[in-house]
Amino acid sequence: MKELSLNILDIAKNSVKAGATEISILLREDDETLSIEIRDNGCGMKPDFLASVTDPFTTTRTTRKVGMGIPLFKMESEMTGGVFHIESTHEEDDPVHHGTVIGASFMKKHLDFIPLGDVISSVTVLIQGDDQIRWIFRHTFPDKEVALDTEELKAVLGDVPLSTPEVISWIGDYLREQYAGE
Ligand SMILES: Nc1ncnc2c1ncn2[C@@H]1O[C@H](COP(=O)(O)OP(=O)(O)OP(=O)(O)O)[C@@H](O)[C@H]1O
Ligand SMILES: [Mg+2]
Repeated sequence: MKELSLNILDIAKNSVKAGATEISILLREDDETLSIEIRDNGCGMKPDFLASVTDPFTTTRTTRKVGMGIPLFKMESEMTGGVFHIESTHEEDDPVHHGTVIGASFMKKHLDFIPLGDVISSVTVLIQGDDQIRWIFRHTFPDKEVALDTEELKAVLGDVPLSTPEVISWIGDYLREQYAGE
């Protein structure tokens, strides 16, 4: 993909499909490394399925035989000398603490590093698409942190849905201001 923010969109959409009620998008970045982690409390995956999920020929989709989201994310990380990890617990194996964690690191100075791109758009598109989910976004730099938790927003908004265009554009501005601030 052209931007890692599109991979984030894709990986987080898997979490939505898995029925998650809480999804965290956690970024940590310094001069050398960008780490991306997506955590959800969705249905999770069985161990044997999990073992094969980084293989592009594994997918539960019937419309297309090849699921590419996870294999691509892994490959794009490893191309830069980064490390990919995935952990998952299926709801049948643990009815309380189920869900999935997918993470990858990227070496920013490597020639094959793909820029993060417009992560604010990915976040606002995801929130607009599923405003019942609790979305947690955090982008940590050595000297600052950009953060959003839709649960905190909901407390302020009352009955106004998060997916209201005005609220979505406010969220975009709110994140942009944090990125711009010192
Ligand atoms: N967070 C998750 N929770 C539960 N199952 C997941 C999760 N992420 C992926 N999966 C399972 O792994 C499969 C492979 O995911 P992947 O993103 O690689 O491909 P896909 O979503 O099937 O297709 P594509 O992303 O290419 O449209 C999914 O079809 C789904 O069954
Ligand atoms: Mg997918």
